[in-house]
Amino acid sequence: MGIDIDAIVDELTLDEKIRCIHGAVDPAGKATGYLPGVDHVDIPPLALVDGPLGIRANGERATAFPASVALAASWRPPLARRFGRALARETAAYGQDVILAPGVNIVRTPQGGRNFEYYSEDPHLTKRTAVATIDGIESEDVAATVKHYVANNQETNRYEVSAEVSERALREIYLPAFRAAVEEADVTSVMTAYNRVNGIPMSDHEYLVSDVLKDEWGFDGFVVSDWWGTRSTVEAARAGLDVEMPGIRVEEFVPGEVDVEDLPEAMPPLPDVPALFGDPLREAVESGELDEAVIDNKVKRVLRSMASIGCFDEQPEGELDTPAHRELARDIATEGAVLLQNNGTLPLGDVDSLAVIGPNADTAKLGGGGSSEVSPFVQTSPVEGLAVRDVNVTFERGVPPVTESRLFSNAADEDVPETSIDDAADAAAEADCAVVVVQDDAAEFEDREDLTLLGQQDDLVEAVAEVADRTIVVLRTSGPVTMPWLDLVDAVLETWYAGQADGEALADLLFGDAEPGGRLPITFGCAADDYPTSDDAAFPGVDDEARYDEGIFVGYRYFDEHGIIPKFPFGHGLSYTSFAYGQPSVTRSEDGLAVAVPVENTGDRHGKAVVQVYAQKTAAPLSTPERELVGFEVTSLDEGEQTSLTVSVNRSDFKYYDEGSGWKVATGKNSLFVGRSSRDIVAKVNVSIAEGR
Ligand code: BGC
Repeated sequence: MGIDIDAIVDELTLDEKIRCIHGAVDPAGKATGYLPGVDHVDIPPLALVDGPLGIRANGERATAFPASVALAASWRPPLARRFGRALARETAAYGQDVILAPGVNIVRTPQGGRNFEYYSEDPHLTKRTAVATIDGIESEDVAATVKHYVANNQETNRYEVSAEVSERALREIYLPAFRAAVEEADVTSVMTAYNRVNGIPMSDHEYLVSDVLKDEWGFDGFVVSDWWGTRSTVEAARAGLDVEMPGIRVEEFVPGEVDVEDLPEAMPPLPDVPALFGDPLREAVESGELDEAVIDNKVKRVLRSMASIGCFDEQPEGELDTPAHRELARDIATEGAVLLQNNGTLPLGDVDSLAVIGPNADTAKLGGGGSSEVSPFVQTSPVEGLAVRDVNVTFERGVPPVTESRLFSNAADEDVPETSIDDAADAAAEADCAVVVVQDDAAEFEDREDLTLLGQQDDLVEAVAEVADRTIVVLRTSGPVTMPWLDLVDAVLETWYAGQADGEALADLLFGDAEPGGRLPITFGCAADDYPTSDDAAFPGVDDEARYDEGIFVGYRYFDEHGIIPKFPFGHGLSYTSFAYGQPSVTRSEDGLAVAVPVENTGDRHGKAVVQVYAQKTAAPLSTPERELVGFEVTSLDEGEQTSLTVSVNRSDFKYYDEGSGWKVATGKNSLFVGRSSRDIVAKVNVSIAEGR
């Protein structure tokens, strides 16, 4: 429907314009953020809702999908697209217009409290997953909000910390997913981060918000602040922030949902005024300090965005908790599960009895704590998922339950059950196989203290492994944990936070109905000290500054640069079958190169291969990583089946950022590596990149 946005804005009073760009209370009590609209010119309200793992419409139920890190671990953009569509349909089912997802910050520190809400340490994998998710969301006439722009890589001190980061690292590592969201997926909305970047709060960052995001990349949607993350009135307005959220005080925002007294200490102090874009913005215009045209531009961005998702037309009905959404939640959980180690124990063959052991194995691992919490309609724990199989299941916690940090869905205080490692070991000794389910606790507002499993979970695994015939460890973690028992156990399966279908997916995986389809999107080092964030200056920072002195050497780029051997490298993940890779052949294509890789399933069952292509820009005149992911393709093959996968590598994948002169292509001789992981390389090909475009 054609809407004359300029004409509408001409009819608005200054107060009405301001209504369009700062949040208010949602009368229906469902939205996380709400713009009330203006009746006399038929501007409808705009409702924004959390979040990346499913809808949190003020405590209403929705499908609880696996955590974003699991989606990324699937290396399946088409699955991310399906997920985006489902998320959008659930958003619409609650009458909401904008979903506050996806989160695309780079996993810089392994302890990061929100790593489960993000995709990867690698910009390429992040970009591919993000673009597909956003495409899926927006194909359903719901707006996506890519967040948190930018360098929001830790929770500790998140409102104050300044990421002291080079332009090159921003351009090559932290910005690419945001850029692709704009340039490739035409995302509707971008959320600014709480933190500062090089000293300037992101809500006020004219260079990053106006110059880079809007002018350079051509972003024409609206920029929204994180909740209570607007730091000023005139500076933020001039810097390019379009919408302030939530525009109301904490106690108005969460009526009945959360007891303000219970909010974590890390919540920001209440602003002195209810809104920095409310009265103060009007006064700034009335006093002549700010040109009204600045406000008009923001309002037009909001209205244009609303038109682009059809807000002025009939709204999509959406759908909730459908069989297809339940199945999708289960599919993502199996496709994203990473088999880290296996001596042949998995998939389970003839077992009559399983001892399921673990402090929280009788609950589904829905997600981490914070704004991404979802309350599902249905959920299956590992114990329940395995017990419905044709096998005798016993359950022992072994150690007290790990308390999960929750913001919105605080579990009622339950009596701590009696537990005993000895009882768990006895159960393990009696069963054909022990499945030990362990987990971490990650949440918004706080980073993990270290990489050790909480409580006595390591002791529990060791005690079980000592007596059990076979021991399978299931990790339900947001990222790497130290695994002091690794050599004692038969198999280790990382299922992340698997969401509502946790137990069903686990049974599919253990019994081989599904193949663990995941490959690590994050390097699993041996200890937190292996990562670039091991000293205080780098993380969590000193005097409110976190120094990103590692530059572009984040994740596996850092491990490779410093010769650190990870426990499990980026891209690693075993299959239940085996694949042989043939010699790749490289041909020139219109945009760059086409790398054809013959792949054959040489095992005795169906399985998934993820062919990964890394580049080394040897021709660049500055220091570059040993390998950088530039492309991947996935195939599922039957036993004995073979195919050839073609991975496209663009000329732009050979670009590096020169702080003096900007993007440059590394022309000359470079290398490509084809691998099963960043460290399991099967072929190297030299490629020459010509001068030109
Ligand atoms: C989070 C955002 C979230 C917002 C609204 C903030 O604390 O950082 O990711 O969308 O709250 O709940």
